[in-house]
Amino acid sequence: MQRLTNKRIILGITGGIAAYKSAELVRLYKKAGADVRVVMTAAAMEFITPLTLQALSGNMVHSSLLDPEAEAGMGHIELARWADILVVAPATADFIARLHSGMANDLLTTLCLATNAPIYVAPAMNQAMWRAPQTQHNVAQLTQQIPKTTFWGPDAGEQACGDIGPGRMMEAQAIANLTANTFSKKLLCGKTVHITAGPTREALDPVRYISNHSSGKMGYAIASAAQEAGAKVKLISGPVNLPCPDKVSRVMVESAEQMLEAVLSELDQCDIFIGCAAVADFKPSSIATNKIKKGADHTMSLLLVKNPDIIARVAQQPNKPFTVGFAAETQNLLEHARAKLSSKNLDLIAANDVGNSEIGFNSDANALTLISAHQQLDLAQTSKTRLAQQLIEHIAHLMP
Ligand code: C5P
Repeated sequence: MQRLTNKRIILGITGGIAAYKSAELVRLYKKAGADVRVVMTAAAMEFITPLTLQALSGNMVHSSLLDPEAEAGMGHIELARWADILVVAPATADFIARLHSGMANDLLTTLCLATNAPIYVAPAMNQAMWRAPQTQHNVAQLTQQIPKTTFWGPDAGEQACGDIGPGRMMEAQAIANLTANTFSKKLLCGKTVHITAGPTREALDPVRYISNHSSGKMGYAIASAAQEAGAKVKLISGPVNLPCPDKVSRVMVESAEQMLEAVLSELDQCDIFIGCAAVADFKPSSIATNKIKKGADHTMSLLLVKNPDIIARVAQQPNKPFTVGFAAETQNLLEHARAKLSSKNLDLIAANDVGNSEIGFNSDANALTLISAHQQLDLAQTSKTRLAQQLIEHIAHLMP
């Protein structure tokens, strides 16, 4: 639903009993961060009060084409231009007929004619009215001849009048999901993205390990953003407390060696590799078979050896994917990031100031500077979810 953030939605409500579901739809849109303006027909106001929808949307409800006060606020042409999308739910048989005939005899039909935004229509009516040849004709003509018009539903089932059949308005949640889907840009359609995320654990003995504070939130947000952008996504994750994002395939690993093995195993299918994991730089030179006992000594020494550099190994491959790394630094951020971009043979690096306690490791917010060979882009502090979307958009633009 994050795709609805700041989206401008006109919700048209016409006069049907399903109008009570529109209140829930407004609530879902608002919860997802959309800006909603409700437009009601006169008949809709017989079913649900404008006051309810005004309270839920936080905006004045529009209903009249001829109200000088409302027109002075946001006139119908301005409203038509303002919208990113126009959803009519519920849409009655009468409204569909008027839409089909190109009438502009109330504010809602006028907006439908005047807007360049796509129009989505969720019908709601008695099953016989839906099946009527006139309604079917109007729906078919609108679908075939007016490309900006799409129908959502109706669902079939028990109706308010007691009939059973097609004509129920889709549930508010389903309409909200479909609305969100219309905004997915699908920038990475057809691409396969592999992402490492979270920390690694380097075992000392059967009960102890060396690790770090990485929460995995940034990598998981990137996996979601890549999936929403249409990519096939594989997440190679160290131990974290996060659920696997929807429609993402996940491989859980513990150590850097296991992460490397999982990364290399399907690398030939990968178009974009994003190394977001906080891989432990070193691991104990050997893992004790039994729990290490404390002796009489006050000190204890550990011999550590370097872990493989996973992302550098990826970027060494002859047909390397577009490779994106992260540089988490506490000082000389950009300088160190640029050095890593070239030493690891990366295409892009996201520099991340982990010295700032408001952002970084365990926080939900972050800020990044994206550096490629000839470009530098600052992404201001925001949620990891939004940053992940911006990163994916930038990667899509840089892809050859
Ligand atoms: O060298 P440094 O750890 O700062 O580099 C960070 C980048 O390299 C991140 O993208 C991280 O996921 C990746 N990396 C890796 N394998 C390592 C160390 C870091 O893939 N052993």
